[in-house]
Amino acid sequence: MTKQIETDTLRQWLDARQPVTVLDVRTDDDRTQWAIPGSLHVNAYEALRNGQPGALADLVIPADRPVVTVCNAGKVSQIAADVLANRGFDARSLAGGMKGWSLAWNAADVPLADSALTVIQVRRTGKGCLSYIVASDGEAAVIDPSVTPDVYLDIAQRHRWSIRYVLDTHVHADHLSRASALARQAGAVLLMPPQDRARFAFTPTADGVRIRVGNATLRALHTPGHTPESTSYALNEAAVFTGDTLFTNGVGRPDLHADPDAARARARSLFGSLERLRQLRPEIVVLPAHTSEPIAFDGQPVAARLGDVDAWLGGWLSSESAFVDRVTSQLPPTPPNFVRIVDLNEAGDLPTGDPTDLEAGANRCAVR
Ligand SMILES: [Fe+2]
Repeated sequence: MTKQIETDTLRQWLDARQPVTVLDVRTDDDRTQWAIPGSLHVNAYEALRNGQPGALADLVIPADRPVVTVCNAGKVSQIAADVLANRGFDARSLAGGMKGWSLAWNAADVPLADSALTVIQVRRTGKGCLSYIVASDGEAAVIDPSVTPDVYLDIAQRHRWSIRYVLDTHVHADHLSRASALARQAGAVLLMPPQDRARFAFTPTADGVRIRVGNATLRALHTPGHTPESTSYALNEAAVFTGDTLFTNGVGRPDLHADPDAARARARSLFGSLERLRQLRPEIVVLPAHTSEPIAFDGQPVAARLGDVDAWLGGWLSSESAFVDRVTSQLPPTPPNFVRIVDLNEAGDLPTGDPTDLEAGANRCAVR
């Protein structure tokens, strides 16, 4: 019997920096799409499928730690684990492969100048979705939840925080929002930017609305462009949650659900929104909803001072027409299944069963 390891167990091992060799046996093409941070790669996929050990027959890896083999769906990795087990290694196959791994997450504390505020970045490592728990004086708000509600409920319970609010920055297209489900389970108020797409009850966060979390304040800043309703939330003067409007190294794509003319109009809105965000103080910490790279288990938040972001953003914004040309001409392929994901997010329902097929693939909300 091939030994297996569940995504959540491997996630915990990596989080605890437990010694483990993660061995990715997929093809070069699959590997370039996304990978587990720190994993080794040996393209043994075809050989293993053809019943040959291929490069695994004489692969040199540490013998003093377990090895976890990984493929796309967790089948060929079982053959790999068998080959290595026969060679005497403590080998196991990652159940569900990279598909299952898409739900793996880790967390990082975000250091802020204001020590009365706590912000934890909860990251979906494979897809690069970034969500946040903001806490002050025993109360908490969760922004853009993208992993199972239990994760946020557990963190809040550990810190004895009561989750008062759950917020989304916009109607997401890359992942299923867990906001409605979390708000329901936490007994929290669900907040969304004003729009008429969501088919469920929510409290609208119009521009300028202030949300009190303990002694802290979240202030809604309408920042349209990526989507018409996109809203950023400033936490005191310390941090700003920019959703898919502004990333640490790029900006949100303006073209989903938009024809070329509409995309250019949205790009012009985005220009204005980014100009508005630039007016915040340079020390404020920009906390986006996505990153394009798989996130390491290193406890380092994906974040940047606005002043540092402005070093490249200032150049992008030197002219509106050049900006519009840039963000409408360098678009990545549209995210797989985004029409279906948006529809589910507008309905506010998580599909029953395994969401990983629907959410497969890396994030594609950014223009860089
Ligand atoms: Fe988005």
